Order: sequence, then structure tokens, then C-alpha cells
Amino acid sequence: MNRRYRKTIIAGNWKMNKTPKEARALVDAMRPLIAKAKWCTTVLCVPFVDISSAMKATRATKIAIGAQNVHWENSGAYTGEVSAQMLADLGIKYVIIGHSERRQYFGETDEIVNKKVLAALEAGLKVIICVGETLEERERGVTTERIRYQVKSALNGASVENIRHIIIAYEPIWAIGTGKTATPEQANAVCTVIRDTVREIFGARAARSTTIQYGGSMNAENAAALLAQPNIDGGLIGGASLKPESFKAIVDAANQ
Ligand code: PGA
Repeated sequence: MNRRYRKTIIAGNWKMNKTPKEARALVDAMRPLIAKAKWCTTVLCVPFVDISSAMKATRATKIAIGAQNVHWENSGAYTGEVSAQMLADLGIKYVIIGHSERRQYFGETDEIVNKKVLAALEAGLKVIICVGETLEERERGVTTERIRYQVKSALNGASVENIRHIIIAYEPIWAIGTGKTATPEQANAVCTVIRDTVREIFGARAARSTTIQYGGSMNAENAAALLAQPNIDGGLIGGASLKPESFKAIVDAANQ
């Protein structure tokens, strides 16, 4: 972390978990544990149907509610989809874009991710753009190339003025939900590649101020060591974000 230049952000990704009633109960349990974090921004990215109950349960706190996906058009014949304007109108501030599960199970390409990023930025949302390599790509030695390609594609057409709305999450696919975490050094090395790529696109000042998160089996035990790395400014947390005590421990580690 480097708080002098950038925000520390811990975001929970609930994925497809919790009904609206369960969401309310989970936020109620979580709120007293994380609401006081002073030095880190806390975001809960919940399923669309949970947004309203999660927003009610976090009213008058600093906890932000985010979404996990968005469509790239403002409106139209896209049955079952939700636009960035709709999210912005609900009061949503953050949206995850290009999570590897969306890329893997729902066919999201780098081009689609890019269209979603531009639409979300246009609507005034902050985007959490996920990038990450597969185990096979890591073993083949093409991690850097893969990450640079994903970052450049996602940001194609964005401008330097957008930078304060852009967060990038490095999520090695082999570490997501597997209990296998990248070592702090491995994670920091790729987050450094991401920052260097942002520098190439938008310049040194923008790169210095960009929050870059690590995600992939981050938990109460490993969070502090990951967050101690100079180029890791937060976390995108799946499994551990559904457990109040674990999520609290991660927020506490980020709040040091
Ligand atoms: P995990 O998920 O923490 O359960 O590995 C992270 C993510 O998919 O964002």
C-alpha cells in the first residue's frame, strides 16, 4: 500500500450468494465490524437483487455498495441486462467488470469488457476491472503479456481524466476460490506490471494514483502480507467477504 498517493480499497465480491433478506442480515452483522475503517474504503459488491436491501442497511455509513456486472448500452432490447445508468440512478458507485467468472462462463471478451468499462465511466461509476492469467499461461511464461493485453484492451478509449474512477484488480485465475494464494512477491510483481502499463497509457501521475487490488483467496491470515507490498493497494475478496469476522480482519489489515 502507498497511502500517500492512492486510496486503499477493500471490496467484497459476494458473487451469486445471499437473498435480499440474507443480504440484510449479513450487512447488519458486518456493519459494526467494518464501519469505522478510517484509512480504507470498503465496498460490498452484491447481486443486483440485493442492492436495495444492502443500501438500506448501510445508510449513513461509509460502506459503499457495488454491482458485479453491467451492460454496455444505456437501454434497449437486451433482455435480462442492467445498464450503467440504471445502477447510477440507484446510487451505486462501483461496479466490477471483467471478472474471470464472467469471462469464463458468460463469454466476456476483452472487447466486451472494454465496452462495459467505457459505458460505466460515462455513467459516472467507478470501475473495478479484473485481469488475471490462467495457470497454463503462468506456466508458459506469458503472464506479463496476458496482463498487459487485458489492461490495454480494457482501457482502450478511456482518458486520463477517468483515472480516479478506475481500479484494477489482479486476480490470477488459479487463485480464485481455490485456497491457493499468489505469494505476496508474485502478486506484487504482476501489480507492478499493471502500474507500468497504466503509466505507458496515461503517464506517471495517473499510474501513481491508481488503486491496484489483489484478489484470489485473500483471507484473514494472508491479507496483511499481501497489503504490505508496495504495489498492492487493496483486495477483491470472494469467499472471505461472506464471513463477517474474516472480512473484518482483512479490513483491519488494510486500515493499519
Ligand atoms: P476468492 O474470490 O476470494 O473466493 O478467491 C475472489 C474473486 O473472485 O473476486
